[in-house]
Amino acid sequence: KILILDFGSQVSQLIARRVREQQVYCELHPYDVSEQFIRDFAPHGVILSGGPNSVYDAVDWRAPQAVFELGVPVLGICYGMQTMAEQLGGKVESSSKREFGYAEIRARGHSKLFNGIQDRSNDEGHGLLDVWMSHGDKVTELPAGFKVIGSNESCPVAAMADEERGFYGVQFHPEVTHTIKGKEMIARFVHDICGCGHDWNMPDYIAEAVARIREQVGDEEVILGLSGGVDSSVAAALLHRAIGEQLTCVFVDNGLLRLNEAEQVMETFGRSLGVRVVHVDATEQFMGHLKGVSDPEQKRKIIGREFVEVFQAEAQKLPKAKWLAQGTIYPDVIESAGAKTGKAHAIKSHHNVGGLPETLNLKLLEPLRELFKDEVRELGVALGLPHDMVYRHPFPGPGLGVRILGEVKKEFADLLRRADAIFIDELRAADWYDKTSQAFAVFLPVKSVGVMGDGRTYEYVVALRAVQTQDFMTAHWAELPHSLLGKVSNRIINEVRGINRVVYDISGKPPATIEWE
Ligand code: XMP
Repeated sequence: KILILDFGSQVSQLIARRVREQQVYCELHPYDVSEQFIRDFAPHGVILSGGPNSVYDAVDWRAPQAVFELGVPVLGICYGMQTMAEQLGGKVESSSKREFGYAEIRARGHSKLFNGIQDRSNDEGHGLLDVWMSHGDKVTELPAGFKVIGSNESCPVAAMADEERGFYGVQFHPEVTHTIKGKEMIARFVHDICGCGHDWNMPDYIAEAVARIREQVGDEEVILGLSGGVDSSVAAALLHRAIGEQLTCVFVDNGLLRLNEAEQVMETFGRSLGVRVVHVDATEQFMGHLKGVSDPEQKRKIIGREFVEVFQAEAQKLPKAKWLAQGTIYPDVIESAGAKTGKAHAIKSHHNVGGLPETLNLKLLEPLRELFKDEVRELGVALGLPHDMVYRHPFPGPGLGVRILGEVKKEFADLLRRADAIFIDELRAADWYDKTSQAFAVFLPVKSVGVMGDGRTYEYVVALRAVQTQDFMTAHWAELPHSLLGKVSNRIINEVRGINRVVYDISGKPPATIEWE
């Protein structure tokens, strides 16, 4: 296994992704974990991430010295390489020229990291690599024992190595896809240099996780809020596999779900998998409290609060439950850790980490906390969940509550559900669903004039939104074919009485957000 120490780069998580893709287990921790922690973790190799700092200003942002004394390979990336150089006796200087973006570097000499890896070669037969650089400072003097293994004109030490000790540094980011051969370099490091095998796989993981959950829970009972989203669904399936009857799921229908969503959840979990699911239809309660409220944040608060209320009431009916399970996944863990310590920059606050555990007095069980989203999906499929459920687009906690602009009314939700279902149907039929990251309809409470047959209509508007994104922090609007948009518009206007106009949202994020509220 590999230990990644995080110096706050926005792409640190990607390093962990790339390592796990190699079927090697790894964990990402803040750079200043204790030496004892590192020794107990007993990694086969350590990766030092990049970060926004300069080794000058951030004099205490250093890797614990133990990292270099463990006798295992170390790979420093960007800032990680600079602090490595500094700490081992080399020199780092701030550079006047800031390099950011694509760069071509020349591999030099022989190194285990780059041997046989190149994008092309130059006239003298040296391997050339296309890499993604982002740095101001640079290493100007190598620590003792190191040699240069990659360079270009503006960055003479673009990569360095002390192969004797297995220490490597790269000034570029192998973890981003812009570094074309980055994946191969990571594979080299974890397999060939650190000697890790390909032993992080799903079937083994399930067996391990099941054993762990049984050990943790014993014969106590567990309660889980099932939303129908990917994370809570997979958590439910995994827990059911581990503890069967000791699990009770509570599914709260807030009246703001997608078309037939409640039926689908009950069908999949209740009937197919045999999970005990309590279905609470709280539509009236939610609608009642949302009456007359049009401010988006206010609506969010109310929906969140009512959920806690309903869930709590259900939990009280299960006095034997000692555990509250949640579908927290690894990115949530890292995000909230970063938010707490203030270490990682530009962190968004996580929407789903609510106030449930404190108020319920239950022990917290988070069986997915070490998995990334695509691992969670893989796990879901391996546990027998339907593909469409596992690969469904994300759906916000407040549901249609933030897709009905202004005041939420049941009548609006009913119209929107049907329009949205048509849109999604057609996207799937045209093979566009998997090419978009999120797609949905938005209800606009404004009326416009239309004609239908011989009559004049005066009805509501629906906006279609479809975006493509990697991380949901920035997004492009999807360039859906006009014929597809035309078909969706026709169907909605013909089939959903009450909607007479459909528009398509062509705003990027930023400056717009993905949701309309
Ligand atoms: P925005 O609209 O901020 O959305 O560009 C980014 C991603 O977050 C989702 N989202 C939410 N999820 N509760 C949630 O659980 C919320 O209040 C919420 N608001 C936005 C949104 O669907 C998108 O995936």
